Amino acid sequence: MSYQSIKDIPNIGFGLWKISNEVCADVVYEAVKQGYRHFDAASDYGNEKEVGIGLKRAMDEGLCNREDLWVTSKLWNTYHHPSHVPMALQRTLEDLQLEYLDLYLIHFPIALEFIDFEERYPSEWFFEPEASNPAMKLAKIPLADTWHAMEELKVNKKVKHIGICNYSTGLLNDLMNYCQIPPELLQIESHPYLSQENLIRLAKQHGLEVTAYSPLGSLSYVELEMAEQSESILDQNVVKEIAKRLNCSPVQVVLRWGTQRGTSVLAKSISAERMAENLASNNFELSPKDMMAISNLNRNRRFNDPGDFCEGAFNTFHPIYD
Ligand SMILES: NC(=O)c1ccc[n+]([C@@H]2O[C@H](COP(=O)([O-])OP(=O)(O)OC[C@H]3O[C@@H](n4cnc5c(N)ncnc54)[C@H](OP(=O)(O)O)[C@@H]3O)[C@@H](O)[C@H]2O)c1
Repeated sequence: MSYQSIKDIPNIGFGLWKISNEVCADVVYEAVKQGYRHFDAASDYGNEKEVGIGLKRAMDEGLCNREDLWVTSKLWNTYHHPSHVPMALQRTLEDLQLEYLDLYLIHFPIALEFIDFEERYPSEWFFEPEASNPAMKLAKIPLADTWHAMEELKVNKKVKHIGICNYSTGLLNDLMNYCQIPPELLQIESHPYLSQENLIRLAKQHGLEVTAYSPLGSLSYVELEMAEQSESILDQNVVKEIAKRLNCSPVQVVLRWGTQRGTSVLAKSISAERMAENLASNNFELSPKDMMAISNLNRNRRFNDPGDFCEGAFNTFHPIYD
């Protein structure tokens, strides 16, 4: 299998955020074994070396070839300066033990002051974590400059496709005005509580594919104290009723809603059983009536919001969506 275009991105990807270094290589190897081919990495996840080890083991054992894999990674906020973009990609490629990426994304439309690899990698959000009152330090780098450096990576064939994450409609419209090579994919938080219909529609109108992260909503955020247990979409009667009727699980219903509406979804699980469950969400169809009932659950609840977490966790008020 070799991927010809951005439209070939496998519709269920394996998320790598918050997978600890201790288990990551084994988890990735298991995910390949279960049938995942699309992996969603990032420098910021701090586990690209382990992801690389897991993928290499799977390839060495003949479970797949490089061409069968779709590997995405993301440019971290501290590397937005055009002179740092190729360097950041190179580090990611070395850690992943890969020659090229299928897709490279700007992780956030937030430029932070550069931090040398030697000093700290991944560099995360704080400028000086050891300071008495640590905070983020914003860098005055226009997103247009960063985008033009991303274009260079594509021209030089270091990455097959380029795109963006966490852009709003305004930023996307602006990008379409200044780009020489258009973005090919937008990755955003989306689930039944945050359906983002306008943003997805606009992205498609501009010719972008869309990937939904945190497709299970609150599940990923309870451990970070960014969501309450009671906010689970899986407890919604609508979701439970459909799952019962179709003889599948509420998780599968929610993932299927995501893929059937024309986005790819990223699901993360460290459990082999759940990996299989999530992948099997491709094996059934939701009726238009069920799709509509799930879409009607939207309440514009965003769990991953720099406007909240940058202040709560990093002492810096920096909203980007309001
Ligand atoms: N671009 C960005 O800014 C951005 C931001 C956030 C996420 N992402 C990407 O999107 C990926 C997915 O998002 P996410 O990790 O936030 O959330 P997610 O995949 O929606 O949810 C993960 C959570 O759900 C649990 N889970 C998974 N499958 C399950 C199942 N079948 N039954 C019960 N629980 C299940 C997992 O627990 P266990 O692991 O214990 O099973 C974990 O707690 C990330 O890993 C990352 O690659 C990108």
